[in-house]
Amino acid sequence: MHLTKYILLYLSCLIILPSQSFANPPPAYEGRRLYVSYCQLCHGTEGKGDGALAKSMQINPADLTTTVRSRSDTILTKIITGNGKQTITGRDRHNILSEAMPEWKDIFNDKQVKALIAYLRFLGSAKHELMGDPKVGYNLYQQYCQVCHGVEGDGDGIMTQLMGIMPMDHTNPNETNSLNNHELEKSILDGKGKFMPAWRHILSQSDVEALISYIRLLSH
Ligand code: HEC
Ligand code: HEC
Repeated sequence: MHLTKYILLYLSCLIILPSQSFANPPPAYEGRRLYVSYCQLCHGTEGKGDGALAKSMQINPADLTTTVRSRSDTILTKIITGNGKQTITGRDRHNILSEAMPEWKDIFNDKQVKALIAYLRFLGSAKHELMGDPKVGYNLYQQYCQVCHGVEGDGDGIMTQLMGIMPMDHTNPNETNSLNNHELEKSILDGKGKFMPAWRHILSQSDVEALISYIRLLSH
């Protein structure tokens, strides 16, 4: 008897609950994951060229936060994979061609190389540091925030139809960069305007930091 009751309850839940769609994480998010595993040993956590192995290297790992700005995606792809590196021309040719930077060849597929480049672009333009684990942030965002802020984070969640206003586009770096980490933290903990809920009693401090990191990566 009891069992059938539970099964019925379970089935009715399945029918009532709206199906949740999950966004593909932004490229810079995947890029960061790869960067942390493959690159930070030399280039350092924030890309400044000060990784643990840097001290014992004869050639300094580049400070990616500045060098990548002047490099096209094509050049960066050649540098990372090593494929076609010989055809790079111009002023810094001798630097890029040194053997100190490993050639990753086909360790990364095209999508992963693009993701790495997106993260390098983030490092080159980031105005605010990443505070928490974006992976945790990604899961929380899908769970709690996308109903209003949108699956992709661009502010068109399903609840905006009820509210009649759209929150800021979290995928636009000009908009998100205008708020520092502390300001984002305050909006999340205490809420904002008429409709942004306060999450203080639902999320922990580290949850909020993780969400901020995810929001930062969303724009790349
Ligand atoms: C073993 C240490 C090491 C690792 C690991 C490493 N690099 Fe490098 N990388 C270097 C060094 C050293 C240079 C500078 C080469 C030079 O100046 O001749 C460099 C240069 C670069 C440059 C060129 C910078 C410029 O001048 O524009 C890029 C881009 C780059 N690395 C990206 C990466 C990425 C992405 C990863 C991870 C997939 C990675 N590196 C992993 C050591 C490393
Ligand atoms: C019920 C809808 C709703 C939910 C759920 C929601 N937000 Fe918001 N949020 C808003 C609205 C609306 C604004 C704009 C507030 C204003 O400026 O009046 C906003 C504003 C913000 C802001 C300030 C900057 C901006 O985007 O305008 C941040 C940061 C933010 N939300 C993050 C989050 C995070 C993180 C979550 C999930 C933990 C979340 N929000 C969940 C509706 C929501």
